[in-house]
Amino acid sequence: MDIKNKPSDLNKVRILGIESSCDETAASVIENGRVMISNIVATQIAIHMKYGGVFPEVASRQHVRTIYAVLDQALEQAHMSLADIDAIAVTRGPGLAGSLVVGLNAAKGLAYGRGLPLIGINHLEGHIYSAWVYPQDTPNPPPAPVFPILALLVSGGHTELNLITDHLHYQRLGATLDDAAGEAFDKVARLIGLPYPGGPSVQKAAVEGNPEAFTFPRARLDGTWNFSFSGLKTAVLREVRKLETENRILPVNNLAASFQAAVVDTLFTKTMKAAREYGVKEIVVAGGVSANRVLRDAFLNQQEFAVHIPPLNLCTDNAAMIGAAGYYHYIQGQRDPLDLDVNPTWPLS
Ligand code: KG4
Ligand code: ZN
Repeated sequence: MDIKNKPSDLNKVRILGIESSCDETAASVIENGRVMISNIVATQIAIHMKYGGVFPEVASRQHVRTIYAVLDQALEQAHMSLADIDAIAVTRGPGLAGSLVVGLNAAKGLAYGRGLPLIGINHLEGHIYSAWVYPQDTPNPPPAPVFPILALLVSGGHTELNLITDHLHYQRLGATLDDAAGEAFDKVARLIGLPYPGGPSVQKAAVEGNPEAFTFPRARLDGTWNFSFSGLKTAVLREVRKLETENRILPVNNLAASFQAAVVDTLFTKTMKAAREYGVKEIVVAGGVSANRVLRDAFLNQQEFAVHIPPLNLCTDNAAMIGAAGYYHYIQGQRDPLDLDVNPTWPLS
């Protein structure tokens, strides 16, 4: 088969990104790794809410139901057809196997049918590249992040610090030893009676709360760049049990605000320390938890480093970030075979 290895217009490489690693079915057209021509995300949050978390079997069935409509809409919103696309980039992992398979199979079908290159992308790398993306109609496009970069990646499944010396060159400095930051938000939300997903509901409740009402622990793990959030979660649980045995009404707002302050303090302090120690030029904060207002403000209010945090709609799972990462792999020559398999536990580095 004749694979299209050269872009139709050498100045404009257009990648169709596809993402289905968890509970969002998404597709996006991205030009030259940065310009978001279209961005469609079909979220399953309402479906999983009644289970209090993502139900994997339900998630993969829902991806099957929506993927083709999402792909159609992404092309339609871009006013393009597959003839305008130079390559298909798709999340290969990490994520839920049954969910990943749906996106990867759709991508393979399009790649085979149209003779387009197939590029498998690491979901975590995608989150990092969301910091490069801006919408097509942006009057003054933001500058791209400058290397070397320290990236704090905080999502529902991962929390890690990566030193990025150049495009696609990652060195993992540290990661969570137990719960991911987003997972801690989700679990604590459940403990204090707030709905899934926990991050947005804790943030909302915290607005009316006092972050100093409870002194929750900050695991410093000095001498490493690792994180730990299970002790913090247990401290909240202990407080909740104590209040319940005393028949007191849970001060949900104060618990939420104090927990959120402990997470943000831990993430911010360690990231800034690593940025100084590794002498990076800039910081990137990405992943679902980077949507958190208090975390964003902590980074945006400091003057030491230029910080790139994606707009809210690109913090949580989307396909624009997959198309963006896909572009840098495309120009470096990555072409994956059509028997590419998903990798549910694929590390970034
Ligand atoms: O990146 P993402 O969409 O999916 C994964 O790759 O895991 O991240 C989802 C996570 C969830 O745990 C969710 O609670 C958290 O991001 N999250 C937030 C906020 N919005 C989403 N955490 C804190 N504050 C938020 N505003
Ligand atoms: Zn994600």
